[in-house]
Amino acid sequence: MELLKQRIQEEGKVLNDQVLKVDSFLNHQVDPLLMMEIGEAFRERFKHEGITKIVTLESSGISPSVTAGLAMGVKVIFARKRKSLTLTDGLATSKVYSFTKEEWSEISLSSEFLSPDDRVLIIDDFLANGQAGLGLIDIVEQTGAQVAGIGIVIEKGFQSGREILQSKGVRVESLARVQSLQNGRVTFYKETGV
Ligand code: G4P
Ligand code: NA
Ligand code: NA
Repeated sequence: MELLKQRIQEEGKVLNDQVLKVDSFLNHQVDPLLMMEIGEAFRERFKHEGITKIVTLESSGISPSVTAGLAMGVKVIFARKRKSLTLTDGLATSKVYSFTKEEWSEISLSSEFLSPDDRVLIIDDFLANGQAGLGLIDIVEQTGAQVAGIGIVIEKGFQSGREILQSKGVRVESLARVQSLQNGRVTFYKETGV
């Protein structure tokens, strides 16, 4: 997605060889117009998949998921990272390890909003080592629903996430695929596009 790659080049800050900061439009301040374009791009990529629900993880996955849900005409469920006071019945949960934070956490969602008839698109803001994606696949499958694909806003292609998620047999689509963050520069894979 050219517009997204352009915004990353203009506004992204390379913190080190592993981490790209995009707080001006995705992870802190949110640009609604860009998010609308991102939602359209996900709709285009998954239009033949019969998607009935979108599942994401709070917090930064929510804004691109809502615009994708709007574009596709489906509802959006965000998995929670912390136990909710009111969310207690029929919980699907999974343990997720973060290599970045070096800690385990538990993510959960209520199975009441998914059924075996659902074909779910999982969306997340970043793909690094794929651990959040694995956890999301796990909790969606616990409800009997089917994972139809994973849509990622920014993929760090030099980390192992894509291989890990594809090894589960799931289609992975990212809108911007970063090849390298070396020397303080963002380089994209050539084939990323449209
Ligand atoms: P993984 O799921 O792919 O294995 O990723 P990891 O545990 O390493 O990621 C932990 C958190 O850091 C996630 O956000 C993830 O989106 C984010 N992250 C990973 N790499 C980058 C990066 O290069 N740049 C930015 N900006 N974020 C990155 P989170 O803790 O769930 O936060 P949020 O959703 O509340 O924003
Ligand atoms: Na994040
Ligand atoms: Na995230």
